[in-house]
Amino acid sequence: MQWNHLHEERVLILDFGSQYTQLIARRVRESHVYCEIHPFNMTMAQIQSFEPRGIILSGGPAGVYQKEAPLPDPRIFSLEVPILGICYGMQVMAHQLDGEVERALRREYGPATIDLVNDSELFRDIEAKDVRVWMSHGDRVLSLPLDFEVLAVSENSPVAAMADRQRHFYGVQFHPEVVHTPCGKTLLENFLYRICKCHSTWTMKSFVESATLAIRERVGKDRVICALSGGVDSSVVAALLHNAIGPQLHCIFVNNGLLREGEAESVRSIFLDHFEMNLIYLDAADLFLQKLQDVNDPEQKRKIIGNLFIELFENEAAKLTNAKYLAQGTLYPDVIESVSFKGPSATIKTHHNVGGLPEKMKLELIEPLRELFKDEARLVGRELGLPERIIMRHPFPGPGLAIRLLGAATRENLQILREADAIVMEEMEASGWYDKVWQAFAVLLPVRSVGVMGDERTYDQVIALRVVESVDAMTADWARLPYELLQKISNRIINEVNGVNRVVYDISSKPPSTIEWE
Ligand code: XMP
Repeated sequence: MQWNHLHEERVLILDFGSQYTQLIARRVRESHVYCEIHPFNMTMAQIQSFEPRGIILSGGPAGVYQKEAPLPDPRIFSLEVPILGICYGMQVMAHQLDGEVERALRREYGPATIDLVNDSELFRDIEAKDVRVWMSHGDRVLSLPLDFEVLAVSENSPVAAMADRQRHFYGVQFHPEVVHTPCGKTLLENFLYRICKCHSTWTMKSFVESATLAIRERVGKDRVICALSGGVDSSVVAALLHNAIGPQLHCIFVNNGLLREGEAESVRSIFLDHFEMNLIYLDAADLFLQKLQDVNDPEQKRKIIGNLFIELFENEAAKLTNAKYLAQGTLYPDVIESVSFKGPSATIKTHHNVGGLPEKMKLELIEPLRELFKDEARLVGRELGLPERIIMRHPFPGPGLAIRLLGAATRENLQILREADAIVMEEMEASGWYDKVWQAFAVLLPVRSVGVMGDERTYDQVIALRVVESVDAMTADWARLPYELLQKISNRIINEVNGVNRVVYDISSKPPSTIEWE
């Protein structure tokens, strides 16, 4: 395995399957220290070659006394590297260093308060009494390993935090990474800065600098192809590559006729006019709509759109002789190897499935955002001068409006949906709600209902408004928009969009519903 040694100071997070592992990594990164998540059973050789400044053992659902409990190579405790165990991670530390962990009779879950009983670097600048923390554990440490001392206690945990200060081993029973532990940021930064002696060198400015050098070195004089969709990830990849290799980058944008109002124009004006990139703009709307004629089934629609996209993309790319690389906006959450017992990590469906293309076209993949979380990718975009409307853009499915109108994607239906959707966008932005929610959009339903307009009876279609809050699209809840805003959106759609006489608000959460209707 090849580590990225561009980032001098690296912290290693060993994952034992906690739902919060990614959150730990994000907190560390927010404190400007580079870190990576790896499975708990990473080999000793791999750990050594990673050269961590510190190791964090995540929480996890297992108990250390269980038969197949996930345990790391115990030699990590001989590396002379600071270690912080969180929840299950602390129990691992206690267990492997010959302390004792007891099966708890009942789980402790939710808010708790701890009192500090011994001074330590880990709790520097944190109050000594009634410190609010978030607990979520079953087992607890009963007796300390040799040379350890108790740092904090809670009503239910006689060892809420422990340390061997000589060897820089620390354990906390609670979760410093969640917002319900207000001192969590200070605690993690104490570990990173005071104990691991890291500096806050991980910034998106430094990332852009090192990534630019790395891209230049790898690409040399060759050409890179990039499929630009106008979404955040592909836009940031394009901007980053453009910054690094300028005219050696060739972007291909396929207008499939299923985009939102003004999207295609905006991509052209940003990338062609402003950045002056080599942009191949392919207007294929007619082709897509023709193939989608009379297709009602959403999976069928997805297939047709995906395949046609690949075909067109391949055709264009083939014209770029001597291109060697295909750039993709893969992000870190897609890269993290999930711990086996967690099962395959479900991720957001990827835009236009270009998987398989690189081999077929004999292109090498280049994925410069592989190390970044979404919020970091956004900061990179900002650093590179991408406009806010791209950086803060909501996710938009690859098959576009075709899956936001139920039934066949005819020109007429697309027009109705596009107009209604534009009103939703305008009003969400004007009210300041756009940036507060995960996604907001209109869906056109294939039903007609009776209405009355003036003296006339109407028999028109229905728009469903879908606005959700979410952190990762895995779960979502409908946004509690103010009635006034709902009223305004509804009035405008019914008055301004021909063919719609009713607007409904979708108040379903995910699960059991999904975000898109399809
Ligand atoms: P669901 O509807 O499954 O959607 O709750 C979860 C998230 O995925 C987005 N989505 C897509 N994103 N290409 C994408 O890039 C797609 O084909 C696609 N389909 C769904 C959806 O908008 C939501 O954010």
